[in-house]
Amino acid sequence: MQVGIIGATGFVGSLLGQRLLDRGDHLIILARNVSKAQGMFPTAAVVDWQDDRSAAEALQRCDTVVNLAGRPIADPWNRTVKAEIYHSRIDTTAKLIALLAGLDRKPQVMVSASAIGYYGSSETEQFTETSPKGTGFLADVCQDWEAKADGAESLGIRLVKLRIGIVLDRGGGALGKILPLFQLGLGGILGRGTQWFSWIHRTDLVNLILFCLDRGDVRGVLNATAPQPVTNSQFTELLAQQVKRPALLPVPEFALKLALGEGASVVLEGQKVIPVRPIESGFQFTYPQLEDALAAICR
Ligand SMILES: NC(=O)c1ccc[n+]([C@@H]2O[C@H](COP(=O)([O-])OP(=O)(O)OC[C@H]3O[C@@H](n4cnc5c(N)ncnc54)[C@H](OP(=O)(O)O)[C@@H]3O)[C@@H](O)[C@H]2O)c1
Repeated sequence: MQVGIIGATGFVGSLLGQRLLDRGDHLIILARNVSKAQGMFPTAAVVDWQDDRSAAEALQRCDTVVNLAGRPIADPWNRTVKAEIYHSRIDTTAKLIALLAGLDRKPQVMVSASAIGYYGSSETEQFTETSPKGTGFLADVCQDWEAKADGAESLGIRLVKLRIGIVLDRGGGALGKILPLFQLGLGGILGRGTQWFSWIHRTDLVNLILFCLDRGDVRGVLNATAPQPVTNSQFTELLAQQVKRPALLPVPEFALKLALGEGASVVLEGQKVIPVRPIESGFQFTYPQLEDALAAICR
């Protein structure tokens, strides 16, 4: 297959690209920084995403498209950062749909990222793919992001929207930031520790994207989270066990709010998300349990 990827240089896209190449697919990368993307994927066709004509020509050659673009959300939020979080997702997806609409030959399938922030936060509720949208900035971003992606369906392209949980692996994402602290014995619960933490191992997320590309009968929303979410306290305890260090330094709520502003909600609040549709579709998780996922990552 000729697979187009937007966001291929990121934490998820870099592993996805490698896995696609390993299985013999061809990559067409639409990137903002062509030389960076070409350096990461020397054998891929890399196209400047800002050049509409080249981007359209490249998309015309794609059998499938994966949309993973989005500015990271972990920086302290201010008005500018929030605008970038929003526009990097919504405008990119809108542009992708506009370009696809103009093609004579369209891809058969588009897998588009969304996030579990769609559901808002709760310590008592459990969310599945049929749960309603929650409240808050990230819920609004996810709703608009998914609404733009829906344009693919209207073009006759099979669309899969993945509400992605916290992606865990070495060298990036949430764990890339906290693993070094835990290894120094400087880990601890965040806030009260009772907030839910719906996670997924990066390998499982990439396997799920491949599953969605390959399985012609899968469409609509799928929760991309492991079947067994944990609380922040449980996560802290399991990670401390894996790195064999104590995690006795709780980070109080006020300190996180001071450091991250409104963005502290991402770590202080959570949601318990169950991947009902991947399980029903027959997707097999390599790491259904956090203990095994962390053991593999910390090995
Ligand atoms: N990692 C997680 O825990 C997690 C959780 C939930 C949802 N997600 C979603 O899954 C997708 C992939 O996640 P990831 O962790 O791989 O993301 P990432 O590493 O932060 O970046 C993904 C890509 O987005 C593009 N990008 C960055 N800033 C941008 C901007 N200002 N405007 C347009 N594009 C920009 C970059 O691609 P180029 O430089 O190549 O153009 C980057 O490689 C994202 O949409 C993310 O929101 C991730």
